[in-house]
Amino acid sequence: MDYKKYIADRLTIEGLGAEEIAGQIAVPPDTSLGDFALPCFRLAKVMHKSPAAIAEELKEKFPVGGAVAEVAAVNGYLNFKIDKKSFARETLESVRAQKERYGSSDLGAGKTVCIDYSSVNIAKPFHIGHLSTTVLGGALYRIFNFLGYKAVGINHLGDYGTQFGKLICAYKHWGNREEVEKGGIHAVNDLYVRFNREATEEMEAEAREYFRLIESGDREANDLFEWFKSLTLAYVEKIYERLNIKFDSYAGERFYTDKMQPVVDELNAKGLLKESEGAKVVDLEAYGMPPCLILRSDGASLYATRDLAAAVYRKNTYDFDKCLYVVAYQQNLHFKQVFKVLELMGKDWAKDLVHVAYGMVSLEDGAMSTRNGKVVWLEEVIKKSVEKAYAVINEKNPSLENKEDVAEKVGVGAVVFGALYNNKIKDIVFSYDKALNFDGETSVYVQYTCARAASVIARASEETKPLAETDECYEPNAQEFELLKAIESFPDAVRSAAENYEPCYVARFCVDTAQKFNKFYFECPVLKAEERERAFRLNLTKAALTALTNALALLGIGVPEKM
Ligand code: ARG
Repeated sequence: MDYKKYIADRLTIEGLGAEEIAGQIAVPPDTSLGDFALPCFRLAKVMHKSPAAIAEELKEKFPVGGAVAEVAAVNGYLNFKIDKKSFARETLESVRAQKERYGSSDLGAGKTVCIDYSSVNIAKPFHIGHLSTTVLGGALYRIFNFLGYKAVGINHLGDYGTQFGKLICAYKHWGNREEVEKGGIHAVNDLYVRFNREATEEMEAEAREYFRLIESGDREANDLFEWFKSLTLAYVEKIYERLNIKFDSYAGERFYTDKMQPVVDELNAKGLLKESEGAKVVDLEAYGMPPCLILRSDGASLYATRDLAAAVYRKNTYDFDKCLYVVAYQQNLHFKQVFKVLELMGKDWAKDLVHVAYGMVSLEDGAMSTRNGKVVWLEEVIKKSVEKAYAVINEKNPSLENKEDVAEKVGVGAVVFGALYNNKIKDIVFSYDKALNFDGETSVYVQYTCARAASVIARASEETKPLAETDECYEPNAQEFELLKAIESFPDAVRSAAENYEPCYVARFCVDTAQKFNKFYFECPVLKAEERERAFRLNLTKAALTALTNALALLGIGVPEKM
């Protein structure tokens, strides 16, 4: 049951719908006064009364009974204490009935959300700078689907540009098929790096010619390009698999080659294109931005041109309700320009485009995407994390079965969770040791808690019976009640994550619920309890495990059965 809604439905406040009231109801940090609270300060402006008077008035009218046991007006807040017995019953039943769907809803009503994420560059390193876009995008993709939206995952490949001419030129001069086949993306990247270091004027000219050949459909140039592309994709797909990342479309920048001219024509027809030093631009001075470059003086298109074409294509193809771009904040200006140009073109849906910006990830030793010109590949970070996870697990529990499997889930989880736990816009310093701390605010802490819950359930020889069959009116104690409240907050956390494009709401739910579970676990014996308590606590343990498993799954993190 949705308690905020239950309460809101029983409050009448002029000019406010139940939905809005529910949105203002919060869970107070100190729950000794109440389990839910409505602050009346914002209402004071509309109702022209003091918050205290409003709280008092609403209190008088509220029908106590049913799910709400007590209402009090305190310092401008309306505090609600809920009926613990019915709360326990409702919450456990709801988890039990929905299982792996607990926390989901049909809020999205089938509306489409396009999500542009990861968007790797062909033949370039897939480095730690791509971690956030990949896992944030992947989490949002699952979260929106879970809420009844139709998410479309798009990998807007960076597969367009003069660098591919350079690459072909470098390959022709220095490369050979076997070596590249064997070295894969690393060998390709080495060629590119070498070109940038050593290319002569002559080679630069050759590279331009190769790029022209790709553009004009030359067979050999295109075959080479496609080969580099397939090597890159084969490489990143292995990482996507480990991170549980999926896409519905790999339409990259190249895909828009023949879709840019119509956009340019439309800009022209609408009088938006201006000539500037031979180039074509859209002037954005009136909006406090530099001009958006559409065509270079040699007629070549730009990153922004392809994004304009891509946005139009996505609207036409998917008729999205929202289109998200999960891209680092360094591209703030780019997206502001692109969105503004679409608005000026009269696309009323430009308001539905959202740049989901995030901060930088660096490693503790100061390494970021590049260090001494050396790139930190994401694969290396994952590998190291899994190795360290293995060492920790081996030390804690040497006789554990499937240690490799567990280490994979723990190590990958640590990297993913590390990128998702904070507000996305914050810069993050990733530390292996902190991320793998069993007692920290970490995924391994949550995973370990799940294994603990699973072990309790496994050791209880009996089937956990539904509460309704065993005990309808068990009154939960303080620890049980706190855990129940945490579990019950899951659907809210998922919704907030979607509304704010912030998977961290789900990550925080995980840590909070795991903490409440452990408190309960240490203070309330389950298997040794007498029958009534035992049945209730087993139910509660199962519900906590379900909620945590669902939450981790939304983040793309697996749960080992044993740890
Ligand atoms: N490939 C780009 C980069 O690595 C990111 C692309 C983001 N998506 C977009 N539609 N512009 O910077």
